[in-house]
Amino acid sequence: MSRVTLSRYLIEQTRSHNTPADLRFLIEVVARACKEISHAVSKGALGGVLGSTETENVQGEVQKKLDVLSNEILLEANEWGGTLAAMASEEMDEPYQIPGRYPKGAYLLTFDPLDGSSNIDVNVSVGTIFSVMRCPGECFSQNDSLGEEAFLQPGTQQVAAGYAVYGPQTMLVLTLGEGVIGFTLDREMGSFVLTHDNIRVPESTAEFAINMSNQRHWEAPVQRYVDELLAGKEGPLGKNYNMRWIASMVADVHRILTRGGVFMYPRDKRDPSKPGKLRLMYEANPMAMIIEQAGGVATDGTQRILDIQPTALHQRVPVFLGSKEEVDRVTGYHNA
Ligand code: AHG
Ligand code: MN
Ligand code: MN
Repeated sequence: MSRVTLSRYLIEQTRSHNTPADLRFLIEVVARACKEISHAVSKGALGGVLGSTETENVQGEVQKKLDVLSNEILLEANEWGGTLAAMASEEMDEPYQIPGRYPKGAYLLTFDPLDGSSNIDVNVSVGTIFSVMRCPGECFSQNDSLGEEAFLQPGTQQVAAGYAVYGPQTMLVLTLGEGVIGFTLDREMGSFVLTHDNIRVPESTAEFAINMSNQRHWEAPVQRYVDELLAGKEGPLGKNYNMRWIASMVADVHRILTRGGVFMYPRDKRDPSKPGKLRLMYEANPMAMIIEQAGGVATDGTQRILDIQPTALHQRVPVFLGSKEEVDRVTGYHNA
């Protein structure tokens, strides 16, 4: 069987689905950056990349060395290719402007350069999450720098989304808006090879993922739902559930794409200024697009994540995503 690399897959998409050539190139460049990040991550202590920096990001979180390095790799790989009007990253306060010496393009790229970075020092899977939108109203042709308004588009406007997970294997999971496919990095060849065609999330599941240590802070609908899950066969849901929590969203979502499940990061009562932990533009929207394209559901508890009109670049939202039956149930409890 001939192996389909990411490059070949994208060229075929350009022919059969009119995927624009500049979008194809953009995805290839992001994938190349992910290979580089994968390499740095895999070196661990040997590469001197573990541990934290002295800095905090805009969200007040301590940055890991690999957060900063991954961010730089993505910026450098993507700034010169002429496909982007600007980029935005979880690790940067303001949108990143394409330097004047390079051509600009029609797309906006947002990313979480290293998701799950608290897991990096303990050798547990981490990843990169990205999302691509069009720059509205040909805003790329203006000379001025782009403000965050250009990025404040609902997730339905994404033209592509994906993630790389750096685990026992490095994989790239991608949607261009017509289903979800997965590639595995062949390290000898240096290419992503198509290994997972038409990924689907099973509608039912008996597995859930939530950080239980926050239980006392949750709101009533989540308390009720998780109580019912824990009650198992004797409870109202009539079956026993298993729990997994990796604390890297990429790895938890990847498990759900592989065998089903429900992932929750609800709002909690600790800090009303933070409606949830996960970030809409870098985590929730791209993952919601992937999950929906694989037949799953993604809500913030009350509405579809992809319909949220963003009001700020670094906005946080509650997230419930995965197998339809369970996400519909917990969303229903919120809306009851
Ligand atoms: P990041 O490393 O990009 O800041 O994201 C971490 C996120 C996400 O990956 C994960 O689901 C969640 O934070 C883990 O949170 P807990 O610390 O509550 O487990
Ligand atoms: Mn993250
Ligand atoms: Mn991150």
